[in-house]
Amino acid sequence: MGNDVPLRNRTAWAQLEEHAAAVSPQHLRDLFAADPERGTTFTAEALGIYLDYSKNRIDADTIRLLLELAEQSGLRERIEAMFTGERINVTEDRAVLHVALRAPKGEQILLDGIDVVPAVHEVLGRMGEFADSVRSGRWRGHTGEKITNIVNIGIGGSDLGPVMAYEALRHYSDRDLTLRFVSNVDGTDFVEATRDLDPAQTLFIVSSKTFTTLETMTNAATARAWLLDALGDKSAVAKHFVAVSTNTDAVAEFGIDPMNMFGFWDWVGGRYSMDSAIGLSTMLAVGPDQFGELLAGFHAMDEHFRTTPFGANLPVLLGLLTVWYVDFFGTQTQAVLPYDQYLKRFPAYLQQLTMESNGKHVTLSGEHVDYSTGPVYWGEPGTNGQHSFYQLIHQGTELIPVDFLGFTHSLNPLPAADGATHHDLLTANVFAQSEALAFGKTADEVRAEGTAEELVPHRVFEGNRPSNTLLLDRLTPYALGTLVALYEHSVFVQGTIWSVNSFDQWGVELGKVLAKKVAGELSATTEPALHHDSSTNALISRYRTARQQED
Ligand code: F6P
Repeated sequence: MGNDVPLRNRTAWAQLEEHAAAVSPQHLRDLFAADPERGTTFTAEALGIYLDYSKNRIDADTIRLLLELAEQSGLRERIEAMFTGERINVTEDRAVLHVALRAPKGEQILLDGIDVVPAVHEVLGRMGEFADSVRSGRWRGHTGEKITNIVNIGIGGSDLGPVMAYEALRHYSDRDLTLRFVSNVDGTDFVEATRDLDPAQTLFIVSSKTFTTLETMTNAATARAWLLDALGDKSAVAKHFVAVSTNTDAVAEFGIDPMNMFGFWDWVGGRYSMDSAIGLSTMLAVGPDQFGELLAGFHAMDEHFRTTPFGANLPVLLGLLTVWYVDFFGTQTQAVLPYDQYLKRFPAYLQQLTMESNGKHVTLSGEHVDYSTGPVYWGEPGTNGQHSFYQLIHQGTELIPVDFLGFTHSLNPLPAADGATHHDLLTANVFAQSEALAFGKTADEVRAEGTAEELVPHRVFEGNRPSNTLLLDRLTPYALGTLVALYEHSVFVQGTIWSVNSFDQWGVELGKVLAKKVAGELSATTEPALHHDSSTNALISRYRTARQQED
């Protein structure tokens, strides 16, 4: 499985180092001038996604060598290993089968000799029945009222995917339902999410793979108290709480009938779980049919990833380009800039997906890496970002590769001035930004505009700043599925090249353990003996003193 040859010893790596030295001084202006076809040559298209990667600092040899690196890194075998249920999450001894969550009925995916697809569809069927009964009003609250408010309580993968998908698919959602998401253990999150809700009409979905996460369990207990305070009868929990988890015992212990639990499996990573039962809030919002469309989009991208030659394979190309900049240009961040208001939470979702997956400093076999791995992903929807941080992307000292996401059709077509539409203006900005980043404006061009000499350096755009443009038709559930799966698999490609385990997250553990200890010390009724460093001791003491004065 994979490749045991250290990354720096793979022949394509050395060739890429030499090649990067030759390519990096070249300007995109010259690369485009030398090849008038470049803007259509360096493109790939599949499943309604047109990827223009021509405005990258690459030539044909770059792609050839990156594809060789993928082969030498065992990408082909790793893809098969994932799709066939091998335990590629070696540090947790688990298979990685989120692709099974969107496998159509009748497809077979074996894990330890057992087909997991029927169980996936059994849960999907139950979710569908439940969603229909809530949406139609058949499912009633404890006092007989219709459920009009859905509150998802979860954090990380049990929150970010559901929030992102709800926002992304709002256009398709039942506008009579109010959806809220509570994630932060900060009480403000719960209070603000519920302050205008009627408990008798509110359904909580407690979403937690483990059902032990401090934030979620704390918020779930607070939600139960909030409900019982209003409805005064413990049996109300049955009509106002459902759970999504892999941990039946903990769900029952919390007081939710396992009949009202929707399960998933340890082979679904939290950040890869939005199309498991963790997507229950999404299904409630848009209905089972649209949820099915979302899954179809995911599945289509899975098939594309598994079967398309690497040179035309969208996740492979995107993943390799990220490796190219991180390891051969020293970039540390990757911006993802969706030009669609509905995708406003997409960058936040991607942050967990990418950074919890590839923010690793040891290889699968535990060696410290001697190259850079996962970059920081960040972004905001356009055009808002243009009036905020784009200055730095255009004229700052950091090289920041950008993914622009755009659509040819708006879900809310509105006319604007001079015969243009809002959407024309939005899309004009996508194309203009990538053009400006790539080609910039020379000092001579600035002078030719009559600019005073002392202002010339300030108004020069060096250009040569790389971007991909992903252009889709319109934001449908299917399109969203393809887009999310595209990034999931791009992360996999990067992790494979870097030989890291993209599916564990040991880096979140230490803080959790320490927080538990500190929480005990903050709330202790007698003065605790503090054995931290002097900074942490002082902070704890200061907090305790402030609290005592207040009490
Ligand atoms: O703290 C990280 C993490 O384990 C994520 O990987 C996960 O998505 C999140 O916590 C929530 O976990 P759970 O769904 O078990 O509550």
